[in-house]
Amino acid sequence: MSEPLLRVKGLRTEIPGGPGSVVAVDDLSFDIHQGEILGIVGESGSGKSMTALSIMGLVAPAGRVTAKRMEFDGWDLTGLDEAAMRRLRGREMAMIFQDPMTSLNPVLSIGFQLIEQLRWRLGLSRRQARRQAVELLGRVGISGAERRLDDYPHQFSGGMRQRVSIAMAISCEPKLLIADEATTALDVTIQAQITDLIMRLCEESGMSVMWISHDLGVVAGLCDRVNVMYAGRLAESADAMSLYAHSRHGYTRGLMKSVPRIDRRRQRLEAIAGRPPSLIDLPKTCPFEPRCAYSTPECGAKPAPRRNFGENHIAYCWADLPAEEGVE
Ligand SMILES: Nc1ncnc2c1ncn2[C@@H]1O[C@H](COP(=O)(O)OP(=O)(O)OP(=O)(O)O)[C@@H](O)[C@H]1O
Ligand SMILES: [Mg+2]
Repeated sequence: MSEPLLRVKGLRTEIPGGPGSVVAVDDLSFDIHQGEILGIVGESGSGKSMTALSIMGLVAPAGRVTAKRMEFDGWDLTGLDEAAMRRLRGREMAMIFQDPMTSLNPVLSIGFQLIEQLRWRLGLSRRQARRQAVELLGRVGISGAERRLDDYPHQFSGGMRQRVSIAMAISCEPKLLIADEATTALDVTIQAQITDLIMRLCEESGMSVMWISHDLGVVAGLCDRVNVMYAGRLAESADAMSLYAHSRHGYTRGLMKSVPRIDRRRQRLEAIAGRPPSLIDLPKTCPFEPRCAYSTPECGAKPAPRRNFGENHIAYCWADLPAEEGVE
């Protein structure tokens, strides 16, 4: 296989403060290949956004981001200064933020922001940039885009703002797009339009995507591979088909059981009991053990081993999970 576009090894993001440091991301390793869509799922607070911000070099200055390796398209991200990072951001890698107001300036019109970005990043003339801005807004489902260019962010609904920030992120044709809950606030028809657009961009221009989402259904339909995170660590990683057919980690299994499925209508949904742990001084053993339905005596005693289950499927779990009923 070719060299990955993004290679992350041993990423750790620590945020000091209060009684102890929060380790938001701990020893995280994964790759994203060209044209690939990698999904990141996990409960609230599991470190998904922190992973994204660490790669983009956007963790607040108090945070400490370290990695054994973090390479993007031949660049060593661990050694780049802020000016070099800024050149990569927005041109080679772009991010759609969980909160769209993060990427939109409230005192500038949508059109101005998009047009200036297109002129600056792609060197287009004002007229070309305007045409492209209208086209981009149309692609993310904003109708009458020509008339909306002079509007300010507060004149758009939340879902529309989200779509404008998606348009901003893809406007410079990045090699890597990091989308943090990009479609969570959108209704299903617009959501389908956006995921369609993302897939087309990956197929046509070889864009790679890190797709962070709570929505396991959207992830199943969109992503080639999925990383499941828990308490800042990787719990399981597999291609989407094999993860959904036979998950190998107690946490993934719990997540799957809490999602309604059309083929199991009479099955009751099961919530995962308990709450995620505090990220201060977490033991090296499996952080999910206290909540896990498949816990073994080893789980609370020794760190979970990294186990391989066929090509491209790994899980940090001691237990041998049974095949899922009605799937295999
Ligand atoms: N600025 C900060 N200062 C201190 N701790 C933070 C800060 N930002 C995030 N954290 C902590 O880092 C951990 C991971 O947060 P992160 O935002 O990455 O979660 P997430 O998986 O994106 O959750 P969500 O699904 O709710 O967006 C959480 O425990 C959070 O409390
Ligand atoms: Mg988040």
